[in-house]
Amino acid sequence: MTQSTKTDKDYSIYFQPPSLKDAKKRGKEDIQVHYDFSIPEELQGFGKDKYYMIRTYGCQMNEHDTETMKGMLEAMGFQSTDDKQQADLILLNTCAIRENAEDKVFGELGHLKTLKTERPSLLLGVCGCMSQEEAVVNRITQKHPFVDMIFGTHNIHRLPQLLKEAYFSKEMVVEVWSKEGDIIENLPKKREGVKAWVNIMYGCDKFCTYCIVPYTRGKERSRRPQDVLAEVRDLARQGFQEIMLLGQNVNAYGKDFDDIDYRFGDLMNDISKIDIPRVRFTTSHPRDFDDHLIEVLSRKGNLMEHIHLPVQSGSSAILKKMSRKYTREGFLELVAKIKKAIPDVVLTTDIIVGFPGETDEQFEETMSLVREVQFDSAFTFIYSPRDGTPAAAMEDNVPETVKKERLQRLNELLTELSLQSNQKLQNQIVEVLVEGQSKNNPDMLSARTRTNKLVHFKGGLELVGKRVQVLVNEVQTWLVKGELIKKSDKQAI
Ligand code: 5AD
Ligand code: SF4
Repeated sequence: MTQSTKTDKDYSIYFQPPSLKDAKKRGKEDIQVHYDFSIPEELQGFGKDKYYMIRTYGCQMNEHDTETMKGMLEAMGFQSTDDKQQADLILLNTCAIRENAEDKVFGELGHLKTLKTERPSLLLGVCGCMSQEEAVVNRITQKHPFVDMIFGTHNIHRLPQLLKEAYFSKEMVVEVWSKEGDIIENLPKKREGVKAWVNIMYGCDKFCTYCIVPYTRGKERSRRPQDVLAEVRDLARQGFQEIMLLGQNVNAYGKDFDDIDYRFGDLMNDISKIDIPRVRFTTSHPRDFDDHLIEVLSRKGNLMEHIHLPVQSGSSAILKKMSRKYTREGFLELVAKIKKAIPDVVLTTDIIVGFPGETDEQFEETMSLVREVQFDSAFTFIYSPRDGTPAAAMEDNVPETVKKERLQRLNELLTELSLQSNQKLQNQIVEVLVEGQSKNNPDMLSARTRTNKLVHFKGGLELVGKRVQVLVNEVQTWLVKGELIKKSDKQAI
């Protein structure tokens, strides 16, 4: 591999850093859909005899972006490796949602500096949500000049060109479009395992006051229904057993179409007719969760009775400050509606504690709401101020010790609820999809129920990717154990 050593920093056409001001704007222009993506011929053999490694931080959207980058890299001839020493290219696909996610990336950059000093031909790139932040890009250009390339979430399809530029240029290549790009269909993707992610929309227009996502991922853009359906059919043909539909707020799907009246409920209805055994989605926003969707989900079939429904807080006053656009009562009404339509539904959620100004009483409202709804599990977070978001300008008057104590109490409650919910499975027969070997015990298989509960049982690897019946005979807090009864009938989903 030939690569010139960087000496000076003459940022020119390949220096397009992000701008928070531009990221805040919501353009009125139509989003174009492009179907003509291809890797330029001259770049197709570019990765021959070279190895790449991608470290992914954050959410499933990022995991899926990594699959797209892997697809492009392998189409360029690169091979994957888990060994940093062997890698010719290392990309960090980063997350900006909380400060500790960013700290991890800067820590990793520190380690990679040593590797880069030992092996200057190694190419290092930073992409994902952190690249969309002005302050992060400034910090990398000033304090981590050994990084070769930075590109944003809207520039992923430009990876082949940016790589070439980074290999041959002396300067750090920075290409971050702050305004969302168009929708690029037909990007190659490297999928593995029995489950596949499918994007149904990009971006978020909700602007919850604590959240950086609307700035890092741009405005809401839905993929055309025929493109989503074609992808799901293709995954079914390839033998995938489960798909996870992805969007920052899947319930807003279709709101941006001005030529057709087609929303998330319609999409789920059409997907329910495709012969793929299991369909899930994430993430929902309570505000847009409509009756049609509930009705479609209540028919079950290949639509799983598990809904991840982030509530964030149980206090209407805090929800207002978060700009969530629903109240505690509104959320409870929605939950009641869902439970009435789908009595065996399992609900999980996201909760933030220690939002600016959150009082003890307001936190207790979160505790009581969690008890009332009986969430099966939750991702719980201490509020983390994000530069440029409205909440970052609010007075953060909750002491750190109080935040930690609230988080601990909340997690204790959730542990209790999870155990209680798992106890209901004792001596029950459940249908599970086998995902692979258990990480801790190679004799055991790891599987998930329709409600997404983790089940371990003894069995051979030939069962991976199959749906089987398991009798639950041991219940723990975060998983249940059981024994194999029989393989599922293909129809009995
Ligand atoms: N601080 C803490 N948690 C946050 N989340 C989003 N932004 C922040 C923040 N600034 C949480 C929310 C969201 C999940 C993905 O991350 O709970 O649902
Ligand atoms: Fe962030 Fe709110 Fe959008 Fe979710 S809905 S991505 S929390 S702004």
